[in-house]
Amino acid sequence: MKPDYNRPNVVMMGLGYIGLPTAALMASRGYHVLGVDINPEVVNTINRGEIHIVEPDLEGLVKKMTEEGRLKAATEPASSEVFMIAVPTPVTDQKAADLKYVESATRMIIPHLQAGNLVIIESTSPVGTTEKMLTLIEAERPELKGKIHMAYCPERVLPGKILYELTHNSRAIGGIDEISTQKAMNFYARFVDGELYPTNARTAEMVKLVENASRDVQIAFANELSLIADKAGIDVWELIELANKHPRVNILRPGTGVGGHCIAVDPWFIVSDFSDEARLIKTAREVNTYKTLWVIEKIKNTARAFENLNGKKPTIAAMGLAFKPDIDDLRESPSLFIAEYLHNEGHDILAVEPNLKQQSLDGLSLYDYKNAIEQADIIAFLVAHKEFKNLKIPRDRNRIILDFVKALP
Ligand SMILES: NC(=O)c1ccc[n+]([C@@H]2O[C@H](COP(=O)([O-])OP(=O)(O)OC[C@H]3O[C@@H](n4cnc5c(N)ncnc54)[C@H](O)[C@@H]3O)[C@@H](O)[C@H]2O)c1
Repeated sequence: MKPDYNRPNVVMMGLGYIGLPTAALMASRGYHVLGVDINPEVVNTINRGEIHIVEPDLEGLVKKMTEEGRLKAATEPASSEVFMIAVPTPVTDQKAADLKYVESATRMIIPHLQAGNLVIIESTSPVGTTEKMLTLIEAERPELKGKIHMAYCPERVLPGKILYELTHNSRAIGGIDEISTQKAMNFYARFVDGELYPTNARTAEMVKLVENASRDVQIAFANELSLIADKAGIDVWELIELANKHPRVNILRPGTGVGGHCIAVDPWFIVSDFSDEARLIKTAREVNTYKTLWVIEKIKNTARAFENLNGKKPTIAAMGLAFKPDIDDLRESPSLFIAEYLHNEGHDILAVEPNLKQQSLDGLSLYDYKNAIEQADIIAFLVAHKEFKNLKIPRDRNRIILDFVKALP
């Protein structure tokens, strides 16, 4: 029987890294899914059975589900039993959550809501967002007061393994009341094989923020140690390795800061709402941001010393631009920031990112890593990509190596 998209089971608002794989997975587990995105190019691509994001195995699944008629994309929602929201939640210049996309997605579904519907927010959101969106719905549709079920369920997938993790990760599911939690638990049970943990909406919202704040604080500790060790004339890597021999100590690796669209962003959602209490979380953000500036200063000082000694400006290889090893994701990347900053200040930068195929990026010329180290006077390792591990640095002249991430053994 052909599914009836005038009445899908699930409408997914937002078809990006989270929404599209979730929509395809739900379709493969028997739901009839209408995916909605405000970007018509995204919608057309998906309806052709293709995808607009890089994620292993996703294209095959989307193609199969669209061909079988279980997944369809559109720019407008329709009436449904369940509505899910997975739209962006960026941070504002004032370091607060920008809820404009969540609010616009909510407004788009409001005309289609009927009594008994379940609305689930998956976008990373500050505490109270689910209640706020319910208030919005009830203000626009007062006849639905008390008749809409609503829940928050955070997502914690790893890009590159999204389909596997969507199915196997455990989930915290928090309704605005008991019955909403139960309805959402039943809904997820059909496509999540991992454990489902019931809670309330405010706790579920905070769970996601706390997961990322916890990582941020732990990385800040490692970054702070790297500054202290540098001043004390101690090798921070040896220090951490030896301290981690303690059976109950596990210090993370320092780096050039913290990047990505989650860990570098989400802690601000706590800080902006709990400014008096979230002192450690705020300081961790500041420590991690400062580490990036410290790396810039180190490279500049080294360049200055080189110039004084040799009477010429050094060529600097910026080894790695992604926000973590072995990916091509540049979002909020401190290493990209460092390379761009030095380039904009007039330094001679050879930018290297083995996971990107293009020749240039925002005014930076991209170099093959072997060429770059051949030409460079200063080699600054900014990301510990696997390509750099067994690199042979030519010994034809003295090159200065600054390894901020222990990319070399
Ligand atoms: N990507 C991840 O690894 C990840 C992990 C955990 C949580 N999250 C959270 O999930 C949410 C979505 O992230 P993402 O990475 O999928 O974002 P994304 O930018 O990849 O995709 C979001 C999509 O939503 C669309 N959109 C915007 N407004 C809309 C509206 N009103 N109606 C319909 N579509 C709309 C955009 O056009 C875009 O295609 C964010 O809150 C993010 O913080 C992401």
